[in-house]
Amino acid sequence: MKNSRTFFTTETRRTRGFTENLDASVHLRVLRVSVVKLCAQIFSIFNLRSSRRILPLFALTLTAGCRQDMHDQPKYEPLEESPFFEDGRSARPLLPETVPRGYLREDAHLYTGKAGNADAETFPFPITGEVLERGQERFNIFCSVCHGRLGDGEGMIARRGFRRPPSYHIDRLRQAPVGHFFDVITNGFGAMPDHATQIPVRDRWAIIAYIRALQRSQHATLDDVPLQERDKLTAGGQQR
Ligand code: HEC
Repeated sequence: MKNSRTFFTTETRRTRGFTENLDASVHLRVLRVSVVKLCAQIFSIFNLRSSRRILPLFALTLTAGCRQDMHDQPKYEPLEESPFFEDGRSARPLLPETVPRGYLREDAHLYTGKAGNADAETFPFPITGEVLERGQERFNIFCSVCHGRLGDGEGMIARRGFRRPPSYHIDRLRQAPVGHFFDVITNGFGAMPDHATQIPVRDRWAIIAYIRALQRSQHATLDDVPLQERDKLTAGGQQR
């Protein structure tokens, strides 16, 4: 602890601060007055016509070097004690239930994936093509490394020895409510780490929407394919 400040008690430090500041402001005033006088003399010697316009500028340049440092003013440092309040703390504790700006999470469906105590069965916002595209991109970045791009559990990390995740296309996961997926992404599941810090809430839902699309893709019938695309499929691969 080489910090010289530790040798002063709170009281001496504060008094010291006050006197230093007083000295500084007196010096500053004296200096300003003398600078203005000096300028007036210089200009009266040269008797320049434009002197009135230049004078303030000149004075400003000379006084620019004088300042009162804010770090010298009397102040409380974080966690410093104060005899002013009964609990001896200089900082006031936050009021109960204070919410930091941007952290008001009133929408439980969106932020927890729960409907009451159960996993939500629905998405908290409409799923558009744009959301699905975002979900596809995020899924390929964050999940496919283990779960594979098809969600069949054939990701490279699993192939190299990490615990093999279940395929999304098994019945249990096809029937699992979307809230279950939200829970797995947010809190992790068994060997799978949670992704709460990497993936913002809305992106988690976008990923889940894309997983639903993947699940559908693996159990689609010809009726799910748009008419103009069907020929390609029935042609039996000859289109290549
Ligand atoms: C590091 C590899 C890894 C990554 C990355 C990963 N998972 Fe998993 N996931 C696993 C493993 C392993 C399991 C099986 C865990 C177990 O049973 O212990 C699993 C299980 C799951 C399950 C099934 C839970 C159940 O009920 O059986 C879901 C759903 C899931 N992951 C979704 C995701 C999503 C969505 C992402 C991307 C945001 C993701 N995972 C990223 C490895 C991963």
